[in-house]
Order: sequence, then structure tokens, then C-alpha cells
Amino acid sequence: MLKKALLALPVALALGVAANAQKAPEDVLQRLIDSIDSTYLTQSEMNLMMMPDSPALWLIDDGQELFHEARGPNNVSLETCDFGKGPGVLEGVFVEFPRYFEDAGRVMDFESRLVHCMKTIQGFTDDDPAIKTKHGNAADITKLQTYVASLSNGHAWNPPLDHPMEKAIRDAGEIIFYRRAGTMDFSCSTCHAATGKRIRASVLPDSNVPEEWTKAVSWPAFRVGHDNVRSAQHRVSECYWQMRHAEPVWGDIGMIAIISYWNDRARGQPAILPDMKR
Ligand code: HEC
Repeated sequence: MLKKALLALPVALALGVAANAQKAPEDVLQRLIDSIDSTYLTQSEMNLMMMPDSPALWLIDDGQELFHEARGPNNVSLETCDFGKGPGVLEGVFVEFPRYFEDAGRVMDFESRLVHCMKTIQGFTDDDPAIKTKHGNAADITKLQTYVASLSNGHAWNPPLDHPMEKAIRDAGEIIFYRRAGTMDFSCSTCHAATGKRIRASVLPDSNVPEEWTKAVSWPAFRVGHDNVRSAQHRVSECYWQMRHAEPVWGDIGMIAIISYWNDRARGQPAILPDMKR
């Protein structure tokens, strides 16, 4: 317990100057719970109790170490990676994705940007395990993502829409969200546009309620049922599976469009990073 508390200390210190500064993810969630009546936010008392000891906290530490370590064929750290606020700036960057990057000429979600930096700065290729392994606690990408995301805990979602490409990708995401497709003819809104809708025991988040939707889009998160930390891209894939729809291409523009739209729907609400899910 003491060891865990010590490990969480650098995270707590790094949380910075936002309105929710020094607040842990469970405190950000508690504030939301206090602000509205929501069966979705309060559905798992067990998760609320477990959040202070979330296994995701260990990944933050691992990710921090990896981030600052000289690695890859070029033997350099990721410290010069520009996540949108200048090389090396990590505080608050995660809630301002997806974003257009001049050097790549396209809109990227956080995971794509991270991979871009691992390739262009550190020299990793698609075949290296550092890039190839995308799922689960053991993946470098999961650890790095959980670390950088934790530095945006409590910050309000604020994906930029200034660049015409950012706006176009967000609008494409909106169309995808409402478009019915697949063998069951489901759209995302079939399951995520009403308050208190359930599938078996699970209460589904309503995309029309920003206080609920911010928890829905708060990834990476520790999924108790998977015993692993999962990413936003993983969640998109899973919902397509639930729709009995062909799986979208990991990191492809369609996936980025959905993430762009779903972050926009949570705009202004505090991110819970890392979150804990069922
Ligand atoms: C058939 C119903 C269904 C459809 C259609 C569906 N989802 Fe889901 N969605 C779910 C279920 C069930 C969960 C998991 C809830 C849980 O684990 O408690 C979920 C979870 C989510 C979450 C995370 C919620 C959380 O609690 O963390 C997001 C975000 C999400 N879906 C987005 C989408 C998007 C985007 C689409 C369209 C591509 C979509 N969903 C289509 C049923 C659906």
C-alpha cells in the first residue's frame, strides 16, 4: 500500500495547474456524480471503491520511465515529440486531440501521434514490437499513452477545430456516428443517444449528456473485466464488434473521425484519466 502511494506521488505532483489540479481521477468522477443525476455514472459502486488503487496507476509510472528513456534504433527519448503544444510539452495535451499536424499533413488522434514520434524520432518501424503490440498492459503504446493521458486528468476536453481538416474530420465522425450499417443495421446512436438505456446489467452512456459522455470517452482506462488497460481505439473496435460490423482499420482516418466527434461531444467537461471501466 505504501509502495503504491509512493508510486502515485509523482503523478499527483505532475497534475499541474488546471481547475482540478491535484485531484485524482476518482475525485474528477465524484464531482460529475455530484453535479447530475446519472445511473450511468453511479452504476458501479465497486469500481468507485477500487479507483484509488487502479492498476492503471502502475502503468503511468512505467510509461513515464519509457518516455524519458533513450530507445529505438536512434537511441533517443521521446522528449522532443510535439503533441501540439510544442516539443516536450505534455501537460494538458491529451484532451486537445485529434489535431492537425503540419509535419504529418493529417489529423491524428493521440495514439497515431505517439506512433508517429516513435517512428520519426526513435526510428522504430511497424515490425518492431514497440509499435506492433497495441493491446494490453504489456504494450509500450498502452504505457506511454496512460502516462501522457494522466497529465490531462481533470482538464476539459477541447479538441481544436480551427484547421479546416480538423473540422472536416469531426463532421465526418458525426455522420459515421448516426449512420446505420452492418448486419444489424445499428448506428452508434442506437445505443448511445438515450439516458439510462441498458444492455443486460450495463447502463450505457448518453452522448447527449456531456457529463456522462466525458466518462464514456475517457480512455485509456483499466477494464476490470479484461484485467487490462485499454485505449480509445480499442473501444471503437469493440463497439463495431457489438454492431456485428466489419472491424475498422486500427488508426485509420475513420477511427480518428469517430474519436474526433466523440471528444467534441464531451467538450468542456473534465476528463477522467485514467478511468476505470466495467
Ligand atoms: C448494440 C449497442 C451498441 C452500439 C450500436 C454501440 N455501442 Fe458503444 N457501447 C455499448 C456497450 C454495451 C458498451 C459497454 C458498456 C459497459 O461496458 O458497461 C459500450 C461502450 C461504449 C463507450 C465507452 C463507454 C464507457 O462506459 O466507458 C463508448 C465511447 C462507445 N461505446 C462508443 C460507441 C460508438 C462510437 C459506436 C459506434 C461506432 C458505438 N458505441 C456503438 C453498446 C453499443
